[in-house]
Amino acid sequence: MISLEKATHPLKGDIFVPGDKSISHRSIMFGSIAEGTTEITGFLESADCLSTIECFKKLGIIIDHTIRPTNGVPTITVHGKGLHGLSAPASTLYTGNSGTTTRLMSGILAAQKFDSMITGDSSIERRPMGRIIKPLTQMGADISSTLGNDCAPLKIVGGKKLHGISYRNPIASAQVKSSILLAGLYADGETVVYEPALSRNHSEIMLSAFGADVHNVIARDGSATAILKPGMPLIGQKINVPGDISSAAYFIAAALIVPGSELLIRNIGINQTRSGILAVLKQMGADITLLNTNESGEPRADILVKYSELHGNQNNVFEIGGKHIPTMIDEIPVVAVLAATANCDTIIKDAAELKVKESDRIATVVENLAAMGCDIEATDDGMIIHGGKPLHGADIKAHDDHRLAMSFAIAALAAKGTTRILDDNCVGISYPTFFKDLQSLL
Ligand code: S3P
Repeated sequence: MISLEKATHPLKGDIFVPGDKSISHRSIMFGSIAEGTTEITGFLESADCLSTIECFKKLGIIIDHTIRPTNGVPTITVHGKGLHGLSAPASTLYTGNSGTTTRLMSGILAAQKFDSMITGDSSIERRPMGRIIKPLTQMGADISSTLGNDCAPLKIVGGKKLHGISYRNPIASAQVKSSILLAGLYADGETVVYEPALSRNHSEIMLSAFGADVHNVIARDGSATAILKPGMPLIGQKINVPGDISSAAYFIAAALIVPGSELLIRNIGINQTRSGILAVLKQMGADITLLNTNESGEPRADILVKYSELHGNQNNVFEIGGKHIPTMIDEIPVVAVLAATANCDTIIKDAAELKVKESDRIATVVENLAAMGCDIEATDDGMIIHGGKPLHGADIKAHDDHRLAMSFAIAALAAKGTTRILDDNCVGISYPTFFKDLQSLL
């Protein structure tokens, strides 16, 4: 448990946050099935990404953690064995709390000669896996939910010949898209994944850098297609992982919420499929400036944020929905916290996916903001927040959801009295040093 009080002075400083979680996972996975070594700097050493490392070690990949003698930079080296170099695991692959590990690795395992079993913690065993079982089965894979409930544990029978498919995913999901594309690397023809809006495209960017023939096509209406042609070997690369915008989001929110604050958050990934929070907050009046932008590979920049009073449009309502949602899906809990302090009503819609994250984030955000005195209601696909009522401290139940624990630590900075985050350890899933980094600014 951790206790936090209302911030008494502005937050000022120049900070770094740990590496991007999505990119870190992919660097291990793609490095493992590439030929030669992949050297990763800026890797996120959090529980989720360590789960990916452990799984690929069990699949016979040597992964070293060293400090570069020349500059002292921690480096992860993955000794890839090529597309067909993985070996049968001796026991069930355990993915912990990580949906990305579970879904992406399933795409790779569906194409192997050997059988495998995958499971994770109690949250993973509740999350929907039918969304990958269906397309992978269409490709010719033998993958099933052992309990018959479309959840993990998943059993994958090896030795199947995979075919390229054209798949229309009804939701924009990078985990589903990436799982299909990874299986597509082994298929006998082209794989096409259509989605209603472009979900984060880190897989496409990194697979292409490794030598795969893959690209995105975006239609005028914003719908997107990822197209992968198999046949190219993957070649190990040097990867520098930018800071995670999902982790930076907590400090962006902290600066916006505490009067007089000004924070410079360095080297953050600003890929457009991830940076919806910046666009949305700017529309709400946030003073956010990008500095030192570097567009090569995964784009990155320093983010300068100054305290701002957030507001709605002319009717004093702000609506967040549609194509913005996939680009800020993991940031919605902290945006809801900001909306609670804004002098407007905020409607978050088209976000039913929140229900199948590490917790049901519609229910858990509404429960905890209401406990702090916010006037908020849950809807089928989001929530309506009547902002501006003063928040007070409360006991926060994060439901072992890292993004909840961190979002409510930020809410605490604007709340009168003491806020206690009851299950604070879960921040280790994506940001182990979060509370230390936050305390250093208070
Ligand atoms: C992720 C994709 C998103 C996101 C998750 C990480 C990824 O999930 O919420 O935290 O790394 O591909 P969905 O694909 O389920 O939207």
